Amino acid sequence: MNREKILHMNGGASCYSYAANSKTQEEAVLKIRPIMEEALTEMHIDLPMMEKMVVADLGCSSGPNTFAMLTEVMKIIGNQCQRKGVQPPEMLLFLNDLPENDFNTLFQSLRNFKKKVSVGKDTINVPYFIVGLPGSFYERLFPSQSVHFFHSSYSLHWISQVPEGLENKGNIYIGKTSPPLVAKLYQDQFKRDFSLFLELRFKELVPGGQMVLSFLGRKKNDIYDGELSTSWGLVSESLNSMVLEGLVEEEKLDSFNLPFYAPSMEEAKAVINAQGLVNIIRTQMFESNWDPHDDSDDDFIYDYVQSGANYAASIRSVMEPMIVSHFGVAIVDELFARFAMNVAKHLVKGCVWIGVGRREEGEEVGRSIGKCVTL
Ligand SMILES: C[S@@+](CC[C@H](N)C(=O)[O-])C[C@H]1O[C@@H](n2cnc3c(N)ncnc32)[C@H](O)[C@@H]1O
Repeated sequence: MNREKILHMNGGASCYSYAANSKTQEEAVLKIRPIMEEALTEMHIDLPMMEKMVVADLGCSSGPNTFAMLTEVMKIIGNQCQRKGVQPPEMLLFLNDLPENDFNTLFQSLRNFKKKVSVGKDTINVPYFIVGLPGSFYERLFPSQSVHFFHSSYSLHWISQVPEGLENKGNIYIGKTSPPLVAKLYQDQFKRDFSLFLELRFKELVPGGQMVLSFLGRKKNDIYDGELSTSWGLVSESLNSMVLEGLVEEEKLDSFNLPFYAPSMEEAKAVINAQGLVNIIRTQMFESNWDPHDDSDDDFIYDYVQSGANYAASIRSVMEPMIVSHFGVAIVDELFARFAMNVAKHLVKGCVWIGVGRREEGEEVGRSIGKCVTL
Protein backbone atom coordinates (compact mmCIF):
# COMPACT_ATOMS: atom_id res chain seq x y z
CA MET A 1 0.00 0.00 0.00
CA ASN A 2 1.31 3.45 -0.89
CA ARG A 3 1.26 5.07 2.53
CA GLU A 4 1.53 8.61 1.21
CA LYS A 5 -1.49 8.23 -1.04
CA ILE A 6 -3.82 6.80 1.59
CA LEU A 7 -2.59 8.48 4.77
CA HIS A 8 -4.56 11.67 4.91
CA MET A 9 -7.39 12.89 7.03
CA ASN A 10 -10.98 13.14 5.72
CA GLY A 11 -11.09 16.39 3.79
CA GLY A 12 -13.96 18.87 3.31
CA ALA A 13 -16.27 20.00 6.10
CA SER A 14 -18.85 17.18 6.34
CA CYS A 15 -19.80 15.48 9.64
CA TYR A 16 -16.94 12.96 9.26
CA SER A 17 -14.34 15.48 8.06
CA TYR A 18 -11.20 16.13 10.04
CA ALA A 19 -12.13 19.83 10.15
CA ALA A 20 -15.34 18.96 12.03
CA ASN A 21 -13.74 16.31 14.26
CA SER A 22 -10.48 17.69 15.57
CA LYS A 23 -11.56 19.24 18.83
CA THR A 24 -9.06 17.24 20.88
CA GLN A 25 -6.26 18.52 18.65
CA GLU A 26 -7.67 22.06 18.91
CA GLU A 27 -7.48 21.94 22.69
CA ALA A 28 -3.91 20.77 22.34
CA VAL A 29 -3.02 24.01 20.54
CA LEU A 30 -4.29 25.99 23.55
CA LYS A 31 -2.46 23.76 26.02
CA ILE A 32 0.76 24.10 24.10
CA ARG A 33 0.60 27.90 23.85
CA PRO A 34 2.80 28.51 26.93
CA ILE A 35 5.38 26.07 25.51
CA MET A 36 5.37 27.91 22.18
CA GLU A 37 5.74 31.20 24.01
CA GLU A 38 8.70 29.82 25.94
CA ALA A 39 10.28 28.41 22.77
CA LEU A 40 9.82 31.63 20.81
CA THR A 41 11.21 33.66 23.70
CA GLU A 42 14.16 31.28 24.05
CA MET A 43 15.13 31.63 20.39
CA HIS A 44 18.70 32.86 20.46
CA ILE A 45 17.86 35.30 17.72
CA ASP A 46 18.09 39.03 17.91
CA LEU A 47 14.46 40.02 17.27
CA PRO A 48 15.13 43.75 16.69
CA MET A 49 17.58 42.76 13.96
CA MET A 50 15.29 40.26 12.32
CA GLU A 51 13.53 41.43 9.18
CA LYS A 52 12.03 38.11 8.13
CA MET A 53 10.97 35.11 10.12
CA VAL A 54 10.17 31.68 8.67
CA VAL A 55 7.75 29.40 10.51
CA ALA A 56 6.57 25.95 9.39
CA ASP A 57 3.72 23.77 10.58
CA LEU A 58 4.45 20.15 9.69
CA GLY A 59 1.43 17.89 9.20
CA CYS A 60 -1.05 20.79 9.11
CA SER A 61 -4.04 18.82 7.71
CA SER A 62 -7.06 20.92 6.68
CA GLY A 63 -8.80 21.77 9.95
CA PRO A 64 -9.02 25.02 11.89
CA ASN A 65 -6.14 24.07 14.21
CA THR A 66 -3.39 25.15 11.88
CA PHE A 67 -4.79 28.66 11.84
CA ALA A 68 -5.17 28.65 15.61
CA MET A 69 -1.48 27.76 15.85
CA LEU A 70 -0.45 30.44 13.34
CA THR A 71 -2.52 33.03 15.20
CA GLU A 72 -0.75 32.14 18.45
CA VAL A 73 2.73 32.32 16.91
CA MET A 74 2.05 35.69 15.32
CA LYS A 75 0.50 37.08 18.49
CA ILE A 76 3.47 35.95 20.57
CA ILE A 77 5.97 37.52 18.16
CA GLY A 78 3.81 40.67 17.84
CA ASN A 79 3.66 41.05 21.64
CA GLN A 80 7.39 40.47 22.02
CA CYS A 81 8.15 43.16 19.44
CA GLN A 82 5.69 45.56 21.03
CA ARG A 83 7.34 45.08 24.44
CA LYS A 84 10.75 45.72 22.88
CA GLY A 85 9.44 48.70 20.90
CA VAL A 86 10.62 47.25 17.56
CA GLN A 87 8.92 46.58 14.24
CA PRO A 88 7.78 42.94 13.93
CA PRO A 89 9.51 40.87 11.26
CA GLU A 90 7.68 39.91 8.07
CA MET A 91 6.54 36.35 8.65
CA LEU A 92 6.61 33.61 6.04
CA LEU A 93 4.40 30.77 7.21
CA PHE A 94 4.62 27.36 5.55
CA LEU A 95 1.77 24.86 5.87
CA ASN A 96 3.12 21.40 5.16
CA ASP A 97 1.36 18.09 4.70
CA LEU A 98 1.44 15.10 2.37
CA PRO A 99 0.37 15.88 -1.21
CA GLU A 100 -2.98 14.05 -0.77
CA ASN A 101 -3.98 16.44 2.01
CA ASP A 102 -7.03 18.59 1.29
CA PHE A 103 -5.06 21.75 0.58
CA ASN A 104 -8.08 23.17 -1.31
CA THR A 105 -10.19 23.34 1.86
CA LEU A 106 -7.20 24.69 3.72
CA PHE A 107 -6.60 27.48 1.22
CA GLN A 108 -10.31 28.30 1.06
CA SER A 109 -10.40 28.75 4.82
CA LEU A 110 -7.60 31.30 4.50
CA ARG A 111 -10.19 33.92 3.58
CA ASN A 112 -11.98 33.50 6.93
CA PHE A 113 -8.70 33.44 8.77
CA LYS A 114 -7.63 36.73 7.19
CA LYS A 115 -10.98 38.31 8.12
CA LYS A 116 -10.79 36.96 11.67
CA VAL A 117 -7.33 38.34 12.34
CA SER A 118 -8.02 41.75 10.87
CA VAL A 119 -10.53 42.95 13.51
CA GLY A 120 -11.33 42.62 17.22
CA LYS A 121 -9.41 40.74 19.89
CA ASP A 122 -7.70 38.43 17.40
CA THR A 123 -6.19 41.29 15.39
CA ILE A 124 -2.67 40.53 14.27
CA ASN A 125 -0.28 43.37 13.63
CA VAL A 126 2.43 41.28 12.08
CA PRO A 127 2.88 41.23 8.28
CA TYR A 128 2.48 37.64 7.14
CA PHE A 129 2.52 35.50 3.99
CA ILE A 130 1.10 31.96 3.95
CA VAL A 131 2.36 29.22 1.64
CA GLY A 132 1.28 25.57 1.20
CA LEU A 133 4.08 23.02 1.07
CA PRO A 134 3.19 19.47 -0.04
CA GLY A 135 5.77 16.84 0.88
CA SER A 136 6.76 14.35 3.54
CA PHE A 137 8.46 15.58 6.67
CA TYR A 138 10.63 12.48 6.39
CA GLU A 139 12.36 14.27 3.50
CA ARG A 140 14.10 17.61 3.16
CA LEU A 141 11.50 20.35 2.84
CA PHE A 142 13.55 23.56 3.19
CA PRO A 143 16.96 24.96 2.26
CA SER A 144 19.68 24.72 4.87
CA GLN A 145 19.38 27.00 7.88
CA SER A 146 16.30 28.79 6.61
CA VAL A 147 13.57 28.09 9.21
CA HIS A 148 13.31 29.85 12.57
CA PHE A 149 10.51 27.88 14.14
CA PHE A 150 9.06 24.42 13.45
CA HIS A 151 5.77 23.32 14.89
CA SER A 152 4.14 19.94 14.51
CA SER A 153 1.05 18.78 16.32
CA TYR A 154 -0.55 15.33 16.33
CA SER A 155 1.44 14.19 13.29
CA LEU A 156 4.75 12.57 14.25
CA HIS A 157 3.10 9.41 15.52
CA TRP A 158 2.54 8.67 11.79
CA ILE A 159 5.66 6.78 10.88
CA SER A 160 7.05 6.71 7.33
CA GLN A 161 5.80 3.19 6.55
CA VAL A 162 4.32 0.06 8.03
CA PRO A 163 7.40 -1.81 9.30
CA GLU A 164 8.55 -4.46 6.87
CA GLY A 165 8.13 -8.14 7.79
CA LEU A 166 5.14 -7.73 10.14
CA GLU A 167 3.12 -10.83 10.92
CA ASN A 168 0.37 -9.53 13.11
CA LYS A 169 -2.65 -11.78 12.79
CA GLY A 170 -5.95 -10.16 13.74
CA ASN A 171 -4.34 -6.89 14.86
CA ILE A 172 -3.90 -3.57 13.09
CA TYR A 173 -1.30 -2.26 15.57
CA ILE A 174 0.59 -3.68 18.56
CA GLY A 175 -2.14 -5.65 20.29
CA LYS A 176 -2.23 -8.01 23.22
CA THR A 177 -1.84 -11.01 20.88
CA SER A 178 0.94 -9.46 18.75
CA PRO A 179 4.24 -11.36 18.99
CA PRO A 180 7.20 -9.45 20.55
CA LEU A 181 8.78 -9.15 17.09
CA VAL A 182 5.86 -6.96 15.95
CA ALA A 183 6.45 -4.57 18.86
CA LYS A 184 10.18 -4.50 18.11
CA LEU A 185 9.68 -3.81 14.40
CA TYR A 186 7.35 -0.91 15.20
CA GLN A 187 9.73 0.43 17.82
CA ASP A 188 12.72 0.26 15.43
CA GLN A 189 10.78 1.99 12.64
CA PHE A 190 9.85 4.83 14.99
CA LYS A 191 13.47 5.22 16.13
CA ARG A 192 14.72 5.41 12.53
CA ASP A 193 11.98 7.82 11.45
CA PHE A 194 12.15 10.17 14.41
CA SER A 195 15.91 10.28 14.21
CA LEU A 196 15.75 11.08 10.48
CA PHE A 197 13.12 13.77 11.13
CA LEU A 198 15.38 15.44 13.70
CA GLU A 199 18.39 15.24 11.43
CA LEU A 200 16.50 16.88 8.54
CA ARG A 201 15.03 19.63 10.69
CA PHE A 202 18.41 20.28 12.30
CA LYS A 203 19.79 21.03 8.83
CA GLU A 204 16.88 23.32 8.04
CA LEU A 205 16.77 25.25 11.31
CA VAL A 206 18.71 28.48 11.57
CA PRO A 207 21.21 28.47 14.45
CA GLY A 208 19.20 29.33 17.55
CA GLY A 209 15.95 28.17 15.97
CA GLN A 210 13.36 26.16 17.89
CA MET A 211 10.89 23.33 17.44
CA VAL A 212 7.78 22.46 19.37
CA LEU A 213 6.63 18.95 18.59
CA SER A 214 3.60 17.22 20.01
CA PHE A 215 2.43 13.74 19.25
CA LEU A 216 0.47 10.90 20.68
CA GLY A 217 2.29 8.60 23.01
CA ARG A 218 1.81 6.21 25.88
CA LYS A 219 2.17 6.84 29.59
CA LYS A 220 3.77 3.54 30.51
CA ASN A 221 6.99 1.97 29.30
CA ASP A 222 5.27 -1.36 28.67
CA ILE A 223 4.75 -1.32 24.92
CA TYR A 224 1.59 -3.44 25.19
CA ASP A 225 0.05 -1.19 27.81
CA GLY A 226 -0.89 2.01 26.06
CA GLU A 227 -4.16 3.81 25.55
CA LEU A 228 -3.54 3.93 21.81
CA SER A 229 -2.97 0.17 21.72
CA THR A 230 -6.30 -0.13 23.47
CA SER A 231 -7.99 2.20 21.01
CA TRP A 232 -6.59 0.48 17.90
CA GLY A 233 -7.32 -2.84 19.64
CA LEU A 234 -10.97 -1.86 19.68
CA VAL A 235 -10.85 -1.20 15.93
CA SER A 236 -9.23 -4.64 15.50
CA GLU A 237 -11.95 -6.16 17.65
CA SER A 238 -14.62 -4.55 15.47
CA LEU A 239 -12.93 -5.85 12.30
CA ASN A 240 -12.54 -9.34 13.82
CA SER A 241 -16.25 -9.46 14.62
CA MET A 242 -16.94 -8.56 10.98
CA VAL A 243 -14.58 -11.35 9.85
CA LEU A 244 -16.59 -13.84 11.96
CA GLU A 245 -19.77 -12.70 10.23
CA GLY A 246 -18.21 -12.91 6.77
CA LEU A 247 -18.36 -9.16 6.23
CA VAL A 248 -14.57 -8.77 6.02
CA GLU A 249 -12.06 -11.25 4.57
CA GLU A 250 -9.66 -12.62 7.16
CA GLU A 251 -6.57 -12.13 4.97
CA LYS A 252 -7.61 -8.51 4.37
CA LEU A 253 -7.55 -7.92 8.10
CA ASP A 254 -4.26 -9.79 8.55
CA SER A 255 -2.58 -7.70 5.88
CA PHE A 256 -3.74 -4.34 7.29
CA ASN A 257 -1.40 -2.59 9.74
CA LEU A 258 -1.19 1.05 10.68
CA PRO A 259 1.85 3.22 9.90
CA PHE A 260 1.59 4.54 13.44
CA TYR A 261 3.60 4.35 16.63
CA ALA A 262 2.90 5.86 20.06
CA PRO A 263 6.23 6.09 21.94
CA SER A 264 6.67 6.51 25.66
CA MET A 265 8.27 9.78 26.80
CA GLU A 266 11.44 7.83 27.67
CA GLU A 267 11.65 6.31 24.20
CA ALA A 268 11.18 9.66 22.44
CA LYS A 269 13.76 11.34 24.69
CA ALA A 270 16.20 8.46 24.15
CA VAL A 271 16.08 9.02 20.36
CA ILE A 272 16.71 12.76 20.79
CA ASN A 273 19.58 12.21 23.22
CA ALA A 274 21.18 9.37 21.25
CA GLN A 275 21.23 11.48 18.14
CA GLY A 276 22.51 14.56 19.92
CA LEU A 277 21.66 17.24 17.35
CA VAL A 278 18.99 19.05 19.34
CA ASN A 279 18.60 19.73 23.01
CA ILE A 280 15.49 19.00 24.97
CA ILE A 281 14.32 22.23 26.50
CA ARG A 282 11.09 21.00 27.93
CA THR A 283 9.03 17.85 27.86
CA GLN A 284 5.50 17.65 29.00
CA MET A 285 2.91 14.94 29.05
CA PHE A 286 -0.77 15.47 29.29
CA GLU A 287 -3.87 13.45 29.00
CA SER A 288 -7.04 14.20 27.14
CA ASN A 289 -10.42 12.60 27.39
CA TRP A 290 -11.31 10.11 24.71
CA ASP A 291 -14.52 11.97 23.99
CA PRO A 292 -13.40 15.13 22.13
CA HIS A 293 -16.51 16.95 23.36
CA ASP A 294 -15.79 16.17 27.00
CA ASP A 295 -13.51 18.89 28.37
CA SER A 296 -14.03 18.04 32.04
CA ASP A 297 -11.07 17.13 34.26
CA ASP A 298 -12.80 14.28 36.02
CA ASP A 299 -13.16 10.69 34.81
CA PHE A 300 -16.91 10.81 34.96
CA ILE A 301 -18.65 9.92 31.73
CA TYR A 302 -22.20 11.16 31.42
CA ASP A 303 -23.29 9.24 28.36
CA TYR A 304 -21.12 6.30 27.34
CA VAL A 305 -22.93 5.72 24.06
CA GLN A 306 -22.61 9.36 23.01
CA SER A 307 -18.96 9.50 24.09
CA GLY A 308 -18.28 6.31 22.13
CA ALA A 309 -19.93 7.83 19.06
CA ASN A 310 -17.98 11.09 19.43
CA TYR A 311 -14.66 9.26 19.70
CA ALA A 312 -15.53 6.97 16.78
CA ALA A 313 -16.31 10.03 14.61
CA SER A 314 -12.94 11.56 15.43
CA ILE A 315 -11.10 8.30 14.61
CA ARG A 316 -13.15 7.90 11.45
CA SER A 317 -12.07 11.36 10.27
CA VAL A 318 -8.46 10.19 10.61
CA MET A 319 -8.78 6.59 9.41
CA GLU A 320 -11.47 6.46 6.78
CA PRO A 321 -9.22 6.96 3.71
CA MET A 322 -6.97 4.11 4.89
CA ILE A 323 -9.94 1.80 5.57
CA VAL A 324 -11.59 2.57 2.24
CA SER A 325 -8.38 2.02 0.32
CA HIS A 326 -7.76 -1.40 1.91
CA PHE A 327 -11.22 -2.85 2.67
CA GLY A 328 -13.49 -0.85 0.34
CA VAL A 329 -16.12 1.73 1.14
CA ALA A 330 -18.90 -0.79 1.89
CA ILE A 331 -17.68 -1.67 5.40
CA VAL A 332 -17.10 1.86 6.70
CA ASP A 333 -20.46 2.67 8.35
CA GLU A 334 -20.78 -0.77 9.96
CA LEU A 335 -17.17 -0.78 11.16
CA PHE A 336 -17.41 2.58 12.90
CA ALA A 337 -20.82 1.76 14.40
CA ARG A 338 -19.27 -1.35 15.99
CA PHE A 339 -16.21 0.61 17.03
CA ALA A 340 -18.39 3.28 18.69
CA MET A 341 -20.08 0.58 20.77
CA ASN A 342 -16.75 -1.01 21.68
CA VAL A 343 -15.40 2.37 22.78
CA ALA A 344 -18.48 3.03 24.86
CA LYS A 345 -17.51 -0.03 26.90
CA HIS A 346 -13.92 0.93 27.33
CA LEU A 347 -13.02 4.55 27.94
CA VAL A 348 -9.51 5.64 28.97
CA LYS A 349 -7.08 8.53 28.25
CA GLY A 350 -3.50 9.42 26.89
CA CYS A 351 -1.06 11.84 25.09
CA VAL A 352 2.66 12.98 25.08
CA TRP A 353 4.21 16.41 24.40
CA ILE A 354 7.80 17.07 23.52
CA GLY A 355 9.54 20.46 23.09
CA VAL A 356 13.05 20.57 21.60
CA GLY A 357 15.43 23.36 20.58
CA ARG A 358 18.24 23.27 18.05
CA ARG A 359 21.47 22.35 19.82
CA GLU A 360 23.98 25.19 19.82
CA GLU A 361 27.62 24.56 18.96
CA GLY A 362 29.55 23.62 22.09
CA GLU A 363 26.42 22.98 24.10
CA GLU A 364 26.27 19.80 26.13
CA VAL A 365 24.43 16.99 24.34
CA GLY A 366 20.96 16.22 25.65
CA ARG A 367 20.91 19.00 28.26
CA SER A 368 17.50 18.86 29.85
CA ILE A 369 16.37 22.05 31.48
CA GLY A 370 12.80 21.13 32.14
CA LYS A 371 10.91 18.37 33.80
CA CYS A 372 8.09 16.16 32.95
CA VAL A 373 4.88 17.73 34.18
CA THR A 374 1.44 16.23 34.17
CA LEU A 375 -1.23 18.85 33.49
C1 LIG B 1 -4.10 14.30 12.97
S1 LIG B 1 -3.54 15.33 11.68
C2 LIG B 1 -2.98 16.73 12.60
C3 LIG B 1 -3.34 18.02 11.94
C4 LIG B 1 -3.05 19.29 12.70
N1 LIG B 1 -1.64 19.45 12.94
C5 LIG B 1 -3.82 19.37 13.97
O1 LIG B 1 -3.20 19.47 15.05
O2 LIG B 1 -5.04 19.36 13.95
C6 LIG B 1 -2.00 14.57 11.19
C7 LIG B 1 -1.50 15.08 9.86
O3 LIG B 1 -0.16 14.66 9.65
C8 LIG B 1 0.00 14.42 8.27
N2 LIG B 1 1.20 13.60 8.03
C9 LIG B 1 1.41 12.32 8.38
N3 LIG B 1 2.61 11.92 7.96
C10 LIG B 1 3.18 12.98 7.33
C11 LIG B 1 4.42 13.18 6.68
N4 LIG B 1 5.33 12.21 6.58
N5 LIG B 1 4.69 14.40 6.17
C12 LIG B 1 3.79 15.41 6.25
N6 LIG B 1 2.58 15.27 6.86
C13 LIG B 1 2.27 14.06 7.38
C14 LIG B 1 -1.30 13.73 7.88
O4 LIG B 1 -1.52 13.77 6.49
C15 LIG B 1 -2.30 14.55 8.68
O5 LIG B 1 -2.85 15.60 7.94
